[in-house]
Amino acid sequence: MTARIIDGKALAAHVRADVATRVQALRQHNIKPGLAVVLVGENPASQVYVRNKAAACEAAGMLSRVIPLGEDTSEGELLDVIDTLNQDPAIHGILVQLPLPGHIDTGLVIEAISAAKDVDGFHISNAGLLMTGRPRFLPCTPYGVMKMLEAENVPLRGAEAVIVGASNIVGKPMAMLLLAAGATVTLCNSKTRDLSAQTRRADILVVATGKPGIVQGDMVKPGAIVIDVGINRLPSGKLTGDVDFPSASQVAGAITPVPGGVGPMTIAMLLVNTIEAAERTAQS
Ligand code: GUN
Repeated sequence: MTARIIDGKALAAHVRADVATRVQALRQHNIKPGLAVVLVGENPASQVYVRNKAAACEAAGMLSRVIPLGEDTSEGELLDVIDTLNQDPAIHGILVQLPLPGHIDTGLVIEAISAAKDVDGFHISNAGLLMTGRPRFLPCTPYGVMKMLEAENVPLRGAEAVIVGASNIVGKPMAMLLLAAGATVTLCNSKTRDLSAQTRRADILVVATGKPGIVQGDMVKPGAIVIDVGINRLPSGKLTGDVDFPSASQVAGAITPVPGGVGPMTIAMLLVNTIEAAERTAQS
């Protein structure tokens, strides 16, 4: 079997076009949605992500404000920047790019972001709302994965969903979303015994570990939907996912490529969250 390729880039273009229409509608009411992206330090991957997020924002007609801060920025200085953004009426969404340098407490920084502007959906109140079935902002990557599954008409009720990787950013919120959609969810982590036994049961397999090739074709159930969240740069400079694409695409029913799969959807859903945040201020 050769898997159908799920084209995240094409779906993201549709989502972004829809956001651009909503931006124009808000601008008729003199509201320009604004996203602030804070980048601390010079992590090259983070620099690329931030540049892409800012460009997507501008392409949709939104205000993008990138705030680059030095690697040695203190926690207090970062908290002051966030406080100013929390109070700025031109800014509807705030994102602090992760990872932060080691001397800064990530949890403290995320909790300092106004929950109403937390377009990453990482704040504990937004995580708690998701967990209790009253979501406010969905974390962008799992949100994008759900959109892809919906666009592919993947049945979720009663499906066996296996997630490899239990991070706060992807694995845990992904589990909540699939659970809410009626899937039976298994959340694997680095201590999971016999990972293959878990992944081979999956109708829907989501892999988000940052370990290239952790899932090989012989770990995939024939016909499964495979969603590869990993974006890893090989020494050659080439980007690759967490799933071994050549072998997995011979077994899966459908699979996301890297690049061009989940990555573009993450950015598209960030724009969706930002327009939502701006629309909510217009309604209040
Ligand atoms: N680092 C890796 N993914 C993300 C993300 O979705 N948001 C933020 N803020 N940082 C990240």
